[in-house]
Amino acid sequence: MIIDGKKTAEDLRKDLKRKISELKSTYNAVPGLSVILVGEDPASKIYVKNKAKFAKEVGLNSEVIRYPANLEEKVLLNKIKDLNKNTKVSGILVQLPLPSHIDKKKVIDTIDHAKDVDGFHPMNVGNLSSGYKSNIPCTPLGCSILLKKVEKNLNGKHAVVIGRSNLNGKPMTQLLLKENCTVTITHSKTKDLKAECLRADIIIAAVGIPKLVKGDWVKKGAIVIDVGINKTESGIVGDVDFDEVSKVAKAITPVPGGVGPMTIACLLQNTINCFKRSNI
Ligand code: GUN
Repeated sequence: MIIDGKKTAEDLRKDLKRKISELKSTYNAVPGLSVILVGEDPASKIYVKNKAKFAKEVGLNSEVIRYPANLEEKVLLNKIKDLNKNTKVSGILVQLPLPSHIDKKKVIDTIDHAKDVDGFHPMNVGNLSSGYKSNIPCTPLGCSILLKKVEKNLNGKHAVVIGRSNLNGKPMTQLLLKENCTVTITHSKTKDLKAECLRADIIIAAVGIPKLVKGDWVKKGAIVIDVGINKTESGIVGDVDFDEVSKVAKAITPVPGGVGPMTIACLLQNTINCFKRSNI
């Protein structure tokens, strides 16, 4: 089975569009999303363009605030403080990576955690790891939705997460624990990654190494979710060798068309959730 993230994201966006029009009639207002882009990173520019496009498509009030790479940190922090106070703004996203002279932690900490649609603020990270309500990072949330499409009950499954980033690996681990999985987190210093993967019922590959996971790393019948988006000479490829692994896995996400579209759909969903919570 190839897990169709593009179609799942389309269905989710349709549902969100309907929800937004309901909110409009209830509150006479629509959720607002402010996306901040600093600098000219080519991948970031594409991501932000797509975020704005889909936000508009579902009927969110969205804006992209663009700054040059030499932006003073103080200007960015003040802008975030203004957005925190602005009642028309439900969600704030600062696209990462930021230029090296800007302190990423300071930036994330400055975003009001109730408007932190990325779920990167320490308050959201802490709430997620304690099992409380929180904003959940968009990519792991998207992975989780795709996983649940294949297997509703993940109780006792052995999940192996490759990568320990704050964006993907760590929050993904929390979501899998919530689903009662036994989770192994692996990373660049893991001794025998192949052996770890071979024990997995579920593999989440989020490490940024093209085609790292091979066919003989995967147990027959495993579910494989590929978070990787790697630019290579032969085009965009994931962290999983799709041709090999699709012959062994029970279900696998393709790249492109797997996790990628879900990330943006989940961002839109998080924005709506922030709006709802602020209007209760
Ligand atoms: N850069 C790559 N992925 C993401 C993401 O999910 N959120 C933000 N803010 N920046 C990113």
